[in-house]
Amino acid sequence: MLAPAFLLLFQTISASSIHYSRGNHGSSKRTNGFCKQLDIPVTATSESAIYDVPRVDNDIEAAAWAIYSDTWSTPDGVERIIKNTTTSGTFNIHAQLCVPKTSGEKKDILQIATHGAHYDGRYWDPELDREKQSYVEASIRAGYSILTYDRLGTGQSDHPDAYDVVQAPLELEILRQLTLMARDGSLSSFAEKAKPSDEAFQKLPKPSKVVHVGHSFGSFITSAFIAKYSNLTDGAIITGFLLGPYLGKPGMASWAAEYAATGNPPFERPSGYMVCQEVGIQNLFFAGDPKTAFTPAMLKYGNDIKQPVPVGEFASAFHILGLPGPNLKAPVQYVAAEFDFYICGGDCKGLYDVEDLKKTYPNATTIEVAIQPNTGHAFTLHNNATAGFQLTFDFLGRNGL
Ligand SMILES: *[C@@H]1O[C@H](CO)[C@@H](O)[C@H](O)[C@H]1NC(C)=O
Ligand SMILES: *[C@@H]1O[C@H](CO)[C@@H](O)[C@H](O)[C@H]1NC(C)=O
Ligand SMILES: *[C@@H]1O[C@H](CO)[C@@H](O)[C@H](O)[C@H]1NC(C)=O
Ligand SMILES: *[C@@H]1O[C@H](CO)[C@@H](O)[C@H](O)[C@H]1NC(C)=O
Repeated sequence: MLAPAFLLLFQTISASSIHYSRGNHGSSKRTNGFCKQLDIPVTATSESAIYDVPRVDNDIEAAAWAIYSDTWSTPDGVERIIKNTTTSGTFNIHAQLCVPKTSGEKKDILQIATHGAHYDGRYWDPELDREKQSYVEASIRAGYSILTYDRLGTGQSDHPDAYDVVQAPLELEILRQLTLMARDGSLSSFAEKAKPSDEAFQKLPKPSKVVHVGHSFGSFITSAFIAKYSNLTDGAIITGFLLGPYLGKPGMASWAAEYAATGNPPFERPSGYMVCQEVGIQNLFFAGDPKTAFTPAMLKYGNDIKQPVPVGEFASAFHILGLPGPNLKAPVQYVAAEFDFYICGGDCKGLYDVEDLKKTYPNATTIEVAIQPNTGHAFTLHNNATAGFQLTFDFLGRNGL
């Protein structure tokens, strides 16, 4: 039933996602490797639902949506479903594939990184100071290949209906399709053929191992992915996400969201997409001692690259929350920001229990938790980011990755 409306939407919207001014097409040389921009048509099908959620068509309705969502007596999860549906379509997913200059053994290990809510793939690769803050740059410096992408509804990927289409189970399936493409070598050949041609992307072998990395809502999706499709991953890094008593406690009102289409700046988005005001970006993503943890330029940049979020993503999130992963036989590292306000109520220390985490993935080869000191939720936008990334590369190295 959704299909015809969907295709129409797809056609209208794909034309509108081209107006980015920076060098987002083609390829670029980095200090430590090469990166290529890709627009990948991804076909995916998933369960979905029509939810009873308020419509958001202006700033007042955006604030009202947050209050509705935060209200303790608002029905949750499955109770909000009006009708169960299936969504299927082919979506343009904008991605960046980077390969290291060095030809060490880790070059054949591909990381696939999924960003969180309020950002797009640039979260992993801030231009402000790539040598110090970019997880992408750090990865190619450490010898890994890495794929980052704009999740459906963000950046230069498609921005379909915010209520009935952009939902968590579909995003999980998109990650699965990207992973399947990587594993069977079709991503490498896609990158080879994508214009303009670039020598660094000729004859890329298919990866020998795939590591999944998430941040925040992207960790939520990654956690579900490794539980549901355990044999498609060789290791997972879950950053900025710990199931616990303080998860999401500050509530959606703390985002100070406004209607995206009339926001500052306005975004080309339909009904149901909202965007944080700068104070919401700080509440969510920046913490630690403001004199040492981050700079005003980092906060400003974090606001400059913010992205709208669609209401359907949050209504549907329960669908993939806490999936058990008894078949996962790979290493998992959790990386928490010491002063993460949204995930840990402002202090992650002592909030997790490795034995508890093992209940989700009882057959994981190892589960570790690392705490990155004096850092808020947006790891890449804090001063000590590089040292934090190294915790992950050390973990991967210890586990043969
Ligand atoms: C939708 O499906 C779920 C099971 O996934 C079920 O619990 C729920 O009752 C269904 N809702 C409707 C309105 O059919
Ligand atoms: C993973 O498991 C599924 C079903 O459980 C199977 O169809 C698929 O071939 C497996 N894939 C790999 C890479 O082993
Ligand atoms: C772990 O793996 C074993 C063997 O593959 C399997 O029998 C078991 O169900 C899995 N889960 C747990 C909780 O041990
Ligand atoms: C930077 O991060 C590393 C790795 O977590 C940590 O060992 C170090 O103490 C941190 N430095 C500061 C100044 O917080």
